[in-house]
Amino acid sequence: MTEQLNAVDPPAIRVHDVTREFRRGRTSLTRPVPVVHALRGVSLEVARGQRFGIVGESGCGKSTLLRIIAGLDRPTTGSVQVEGVEISHLPERRLGFLRAQLQLVFQDPMSSLDPRMRVRDIIAEPLVAQGHRDNRTRVHELLEAVGMQPDAAERYPHQFSGGQRQRISIARALAPDPRILVADEPVSALDVSVRAQVLNLLAELVERLSLTLVFVSHDLSVVRYVCDTVAVMSRGEIVETGPIARVYDTPEHPYTRQLIAAAPRLRAALAGRTAAVLAAETLAAQGGSRPTSTAAPAVPLPPSSPKDTR
Ligand SMILES: Nc1ncnc2c1ncn2[C@@H]1O[C@H](COP(=O)(O)OP(=O)(O)OP(=O)(O)O)[C@@H](O)[C@H]1O
Ligand SMILES: [Mg+2]
Repeated sequence: MTEQLNAVDPPAIRVHDVTREFRRGRTSLTRPVPVVHALRGVSLEVARGQRFGIVGESGCGKSTLLRIIAGLDRPTTGSVQVEGVEISHLPERRLGFLRAQLQLVFQDPMSSLDPRMRVRDIIAEPLVAQGHRDNRTRVHELLEAVGMQPDAAERYPHQFSGGQRQRISIARALAPDPRILVADEPVSALDVSVRAQVLNLLAELVERLSLTLVFVSHDLSVVRYVCDTVAVMSRGEIVETGPIARVYDTPEHPYTRQLIAAAPRLRAALAGRTAAVLAAETLAAQGGSRPTSTAAPAVPLPPSSPKDTR
């Protein structure tokens, strides 16, 4: 039996020596089938309440790793435990507990939200899957938590802006009251100014609900804003990991140094204003401050959140 509960308090996520190989279609009868080594022996641990960032160049394996952690894909070899339960070889039908504990937010809310469904049903979907019947109050609570009006429940995804759609995705992810939120480039597809608001919202909700966060982004400044720990990936491997200030200020691995050296160019490309800078400015304008790394006690969904100004 692969499923096991650790006796002592396990970390939220433990990944040990995970590989993932993808076999491409055969291109020749004489040559072997090409294999992509998307992950090559990845190990990491995410403590409860930690905000764990994953950075690295395009194609280095970030999304593959997240999908495996979320049980949407299986490793070729290695072990993945969520809340102490080994999930790497569990069949889909036994992953119900994972759906309740861990939820995902993707990059592109348009393709992750069903255009034919009303917002009410989109948000309630994970609740219905868990057998909850009357979800009206909960849906309104969740909409409020992400800074949207209750009447949004009756509308369809295409009637909202990109930022609003990502708020809806976040509301849906929070619906089953998960302990872990996994986000794959959640603000990368958004307009820079909206990016800041959504980033603030995520940071605030993670803080208030004492969530464990795994956050993937190619934007180092965004990761610095929301995370306390970072893992740097290159070509399917984690080359460096540690507290974010230490890794960014005194990078040890040459690849990390290279990535950080490239970051000012990225900032220049955004006219000197990164999402993180904008997020800090927006928050300062609201009279708030950046969430601290000390987790707040678990509370019901917050009565107020940064309002959507779009
Ligand atoms: N289903 C698949 N079939 C074949 N190859 C795949 C598949 N999924 C991912 N890959 C390959 O695995 C490698 C890692 O891809 P992955 O999407 O995890 O990278 P990423 O770090 O998320 O990149 P990006 O920053 O562009 O999102 C890439 O070479 C990719 O082409
Ligand atoms: Mg990706």
